[in-house]
Amino acid sequence: MKLLVCGGAGFIGSNFVRQRVNDHGDEVVVLDALTYAGRPENLEGLGVTLVHGEIQNAEKVAEAIGDGVDAIVNFAAETHVDRSISGPDAFVETNVRGSLVLLEAAREREVKRYVQISTDEVYGSIEEGSFTEESPIVPSSPYSASKAGGDLLVQSYLHTYGLETVIARGSNNYGPYQYPEKLIPLMVLNALHDDKLPVYGDGLNVRNWLYVEDFGRGISHVLGHGAPGEVYNVGGPDESTNIEVVKGILKHTGKDESLIEYVTDRPGHDRRYSLGSEKARALGWSAQVRFEEGLEKTVAWYRDNTAWWEPIRSGEYREYYERHYGRALG
Ligand code: NAD
Ligand code: DAU
Repeated sequence: MKLLVCGGAGFIGSNFVRQRVNDHGDEVVVLDALTYAGRPENLEGLGVTLVHGEIQNAEKVAEAIGDGVDAIVNFAAETHVDRSISGPDAFVETNVRGSLVLLEAAREREVKRYVQISTDEVYGSIEEGSFTEESPIVPSSPYSASKAGGDLLVQSYLHTYGLETVIARGSNNYGPYQYPEKLIPLMVLNALHDDKLPVYGDGLNVRNWLYVEDFGRGISHVLGHGAPGEVYNVGGPDESTNIEVVKGILKHTGKDESLIEYVTDRPGHDRRYSLGSEKARALGWSAQVRFEEGLEKTVAWYRDNTAWWEPIRSGEYREYYERHYGRALG
């Protein structure tokens, strides 16, 4: 296939591109704005074409589509909940308006398939049981609200224009190449540096962890076999409280639990996510990597890939970190 992968220089997008090139032999064009989270080095050696531009820019989108593509897979987004709380504008701009510009281009160019990468966060928080694709959309942060907005536009393009759209909603991903603002890589790098590990609130919020390669395989099933107009949840095999995750990281890095520091909670912090993935399993997908194994592999990857994260930790990240955690961590 010839694929246009938007946001393909980020964490999940670049892992997906690696799978499509290596396992499927696809030709891939990546359109990416290369924000702080987009790293061209994530795509090194894969032989893909990288178009530097925003998905809201119709001319750049047209350039990336070129003579035509078989499908568009849209990962491009502002993705960090904490950043959406301190500055929501970019979230609406990329996640809502950007999705609209892409859909419009897909319609005009009669692209055969459009896959929107979405999140379990659009369903809000769930105390017991798991979300299904029929669960109500009740997002609670500016991030998840903007992702829900993007999803609704995607569905409107099927109903109104007959564009073949599908949506894949993933649970919390972890693995190689994740920008260290998110829980797992942040805690791994802090532990390796003997820095404090800032746990929000009581540390008992629950997340449903999905190894990034399992999400990539799930997305490929949805791309290849998903029915037009349908939503597919792609959830991880294991749930864990944040404090269990942090203690697991301390074990794998050989560091002491005295590094843990409980800090002020995230405003509107969703208590628990849990995704039922029966529909994706009916397409032939299942998660291969249990959390314990994936966490150990992830810690090892960060330990072995200092050249990837050292430039990140000394750049924009340092400013963000001080702004966000400075006061809490003294
Ligand atoms: P990421 O922040 O690592 O990467 C986002 C990528 O999008 C970056 O390469 C960035 O440069 C690019 N981008 C941002 N704004 C853009 C714009 N306006 N135009 C073009 N490119 C732009 O994010 P991620 O964790 O890899 O998430 C990818 C997708 O998966 C997102 O849509 C996210 O909502 C969704 N998702 C993430 C998770 C998770 O746990 N990380 C779980 C479920 C779904
Ligand atoms: O559920 C899917 C979503 O998972 C994706 O859609 C988002 O793009 C992705 O960022 C992620 O959102 P979360 O808010 O769940 O992930 P984050 O890594 O920011 O936080 C995970 C949990 O850890 C959450 O309960 C907040 C907590 N946390 C996070 C950070 C960064 C801490 O306790 N301390 C921290 O410093």
